Amino acid sequence: MKTQKKRIGVYPGSFDPLTNGHLDIIIRASKLFDLLIVGVLKNDSKKALFTMDERVEHIRKCTKGMENVKVEMFEGLLVDFVKQKGADTIVRGLRAVSDYEYELQMAMLNKHMSQETDTIFFMTDIHNSFLSSSVIKDIAQHGGNIHGLVPEEIVDDIYAKMKGIKTAKL
Ligand code: COA
Repeated sequence: MKTQKKRIGVYPGSFDPLTNGHLDIIIRASKLFDLLIVGVLKNDSKKALFTMDERVEHIRKCTKGMENVKVEMFEGLLVDFVKQKGADTIVRGLRAVSDYEYELQMAMLNKHMSQETDTIFFMTDIHNSFLSSSVIKDIAQHGGNIHGLVPEEIVDDIYAKMKGIKTAKL
């Protein structure tokens, strides 16, 4: 009897930090794959607030108990990481029409570089469509309320990081 190939998807991003919007995509996408790998991009050209270890740890904490979700860092081309993991599908979220052009360009370029790789899109839940990692950092930095915008497990960590930054600037 022929054994069925494991369906592996990759959900890439910077996750600096993870938001409820990202987590919603992870939960929904994990239902489509035998294994969903959340790929955290090490990108030296985009200055991250959280270290790679912190970002990976945040996602691990928030996906604890989700047996088919793994979190890994990657650098270099996404299509290479996808191939290296034995995956053939990239997962992305679309929040608004404004995301579309950038996402279309990436999906097409990735397809051009790797014919076997497809990108699938989830429409972001309406409650999360206004979220981005930058706005979370901005709100937290100014002492605003980020509860309900990011997973509860990482709220304290985000405030603690912001406090450290404020202190360092004094
Ligand atoms: N909910 C909430 N926010 C979301 C979201 C969602 N569902 N989806 C995206 N975002 C936000 C992120 O928080 C982030 O916000 P910020 O700009 O305020 O930080 C922004 O949208 C985009 O971030 P992200 O999803 O992390 O994408 P990115 O643009 O940082 O990275 C990669 C996208 C990792 C897929 C892309 O850069 C990549 O593939 N890099 C590897 C190199 C490569 O292969 N390049 C060629 C590609 S063609």
